[in-house]
Amino acid sequence: MTTTKIHKVARVSLGVVMLIACLQCTKRNEEDLKSICFESEILPIIQANCATIGCHNSTTAADGYDLSTYEGIMRAVKPGNGRDSKIVKVMLEDKEEKRMPPPPAAPMSSQFIELVIQWIDKGAGHVVGCSLEVGCDTSSVSFSADITPVLNDFCVSCHNASAPSGGVVLSTYNGVKSVADDGRLVGSVFHLPGFSPMPPSGTRLDECKLNKIKAWVNAGAPAN
Ligand code: HEC
Repeated sequence: MTTTKIHKVARVSLGVVMLIACLQCTKRNEEDLKSICFESEILPIIQANCATIGCHNSTTAADGYDLSTYEGIMRAVKPGNGRDSKIVKVMLEDKEEKRMPPPPAAPMSSQFIELVIQWIDKGAGHVVGCSLEVGCDTSSVSFSADITPVLNDFCVSCHNASAPSGGVVLSTYNGVKSVADDGRLVGSVFHLPGFSPMPPSGTRLDECKLNKIKAWVNAGAPAN
């Protein structure tokens, strides 16, 4: 083989190796980006707690932030850097007057903030069409395993002991039990006529969460 031929072979094989490496890295990135479902795990919780009337919805957009859409949320996100993203910084803020959601609302749960950080660290992908409705089991709904996590994500910021909006406390079993028994829990989350629609951002909880709440209330709202 002449030296030119050797060079040519070397160049071609280097190209092939780089191509394979690159394909693998795109594939890995895509899987990583998809591991947290923006549409079902991030967006609805931000909408319920932040995209409310007078706050960060499309009409008010307080401070220029409309947090009711992916594009709006991305204005407060630095892809790849969760802890340095504005949306995370304001949720973690120590000074109450700067924290979001602002007092009297309670801070977002540390689990949710951690999920947002992971989602941003992984590239803040706009992952949709992955709703968790497949396999929604409403046969044995438990207060602690099924109901509490939903209330914590979507309701407790406005309905805790120090901020009982409308006199409703959803951070304790007794508080939840009383609105379960008088019909207001189901009335408000299903947006039935005669009840204030909850969460007030206007977007209903997904069908699986709604059906679990209904099944739990129909079973007598047990402390299970
Ligand atoms: C952004 C704040 C906020 C969030 C989040 C929120 N609420 Fe409310 N809620 C309020 C306010 C304010 C009122 C009282 C005024 C009203 O009735 O609209 C209220 C009232 C209620 C009432 C009484 C309704 C009635 O018709 O008497 C219930 C029940 C309720 N909320 C349940 C929930 C549930 C369940 C969630 C979560 C799925 C939730 N709320 C999320 C602010 C909030």
